[in-house]
Amino acid sequence: MATRHRTFYRLAATILIAFLLTPPTAAQPPWQICGKSGNYAANDTYQSNIRQLSATLPKNASASRTLFATSSIGSLPNIAYALALCRGDGNASACEACVTTAFQDAQQLCAFNKDATVIYDPCYLRFSNQNFLATTSNDNIIVLKNTQSVSSPVDVFDAAVQTLLNATGDYAAANSSRRFATGEEGFDTTNPTIYGLVQCTPDMSPADCRSCLGDIITQMPQDLSGSIGGRLIGVRCNFRYEVVPFFSGSPTLRLPAPPAPPAPPPAPVNVTPTATPREENRQTMFWLLCCLSLLQFWLSLPFAFVI
Ligand SMILES: *[C@@H]1O[C@H](CO)[C@@H](O)[C@H](O)[C@H]1NC(C)=O
Ligand SMILES: *[C@@H]1O[C@H](CO)[C@@H](O)[C@H](O)[C@H]1NC(C)=O
Ligand SMILES: *[C@@H]1O[C@H](CO)[C@@H](O)[C@H](O)[C@H]1NC(C)=O
Ligand SMILES: *[C@@H]1O[C@H](CO)[C@@H](O)[C@H](O)[C@H]1NC(C)=O
Ligand SMILES: *[C@@H]1O[C@H](CO)[C@@H](O)[C@H](O)[C@H]1NC(C)=O
Repeated sequence: MATRHRTFYRLAATILIAFLLTPPTAAQPPWQICGKSGNYAANDTYQSNIRQLSATLPKNASASRTLFATSSIGSLPNIAYALALCRGDGNASACEACVTTAFQDAQQLCAFNKDATVIYDPCYLRFSNQNFLATTSNDNIIVLKNTQSVSSPVDVFDAAVQTLLNATGDYAAANSSRRFATGEEGFDTTNPTIYGLVQCTPDMSPADCRSCLGDIITQMPQDLSGSIGGRLIGVRCNFRYEVVPFFSGSPTLRLPAPPAPPAPPPAPVNVTPTATPREENRQTMFWLLCCLSLLQFWLSLPFAFVI
């Protein structure tokens, strides 16, 4: 019994330490993903190819009607592929500035890494020695979650978010050459409106775009459940939702509030389980962990709000 307890406490302590050491997602952009396909060296051919891309891709993306550009420069083994996408509600000058900054930051945040993705509010950039342009696979998904939760029932909120993103995704895939759409949906008295935005790279077919969005929208309840705001951003498609306005211009779509959920069943009475000593022990540990988690949450507050 004593050994079991010791094992349990040791395990709990390990989990707790791991938790405390986990760096929270940075609060502010840029967010980056550094790849694992090797490094380049200062002044080598690969670096020179990245520099050439950085000299032209920001202009090409901002000059394009869809605020999107891809390119590759060089030959094997030093070929570099790049993709830049600006948000569909942005303008050309903001786009060019964002992609220019992205090239600079990528080379610092993922120093000498051949594969770097950097994400900002108005744009994102990936360059790589891997030909990711050849597929529509939505690699390098980053999850940005607002740590604040809704007060409404979580499953009702999640379903409303998915309904909004589904409808917005239908529109972006089928009706927009930018593969971009925004939407608003009524919700409840605490959060009267949910705002959503979806986007695919504009080179995707309507079917590929919808399927890409379908995959991340389906992932929403696992990754962002009940969060008052969040984003899933992959190289090929992304979404964002908030309970406050965040996009420019009027929404592409306006959805009515979903029907009110049925009243919850009455709470069961006379169910007061008495805890055995071992359960009490576990409960103490549970509350201890909760308090420490809260402390961790509190300490990380200035950093943890990713939205
Ligand atoms: C790279 O080139 C710069 C400018 O020509 C030079 O100052 C620097 O020493 C070079 N670095 C390496 C590692 O060769
Ligand atoms: C930018 O566009 C020009 C003109 O279309 C093209 O020649 C050039 O290769 C492009 N640059 C990149 C990095 O795609
Ligand atoms: C472009 O967008 C930026 C950021 O939203 C804004 O500050 C700027 O005024 C806009 N420029 C034009 C020409 O609309
Ligand atoms: C959203 O669309 C998917 C299909 O892409 C569907 O399975 C899901 O039920 C829809 N969710 C809502 C809440 O409409
Ligand atoms: C596309 O636009 C048309 C005309 O505005 C509209 O009737 C249709 O519902 C839209 N399709 C989607 C999937 O939103």
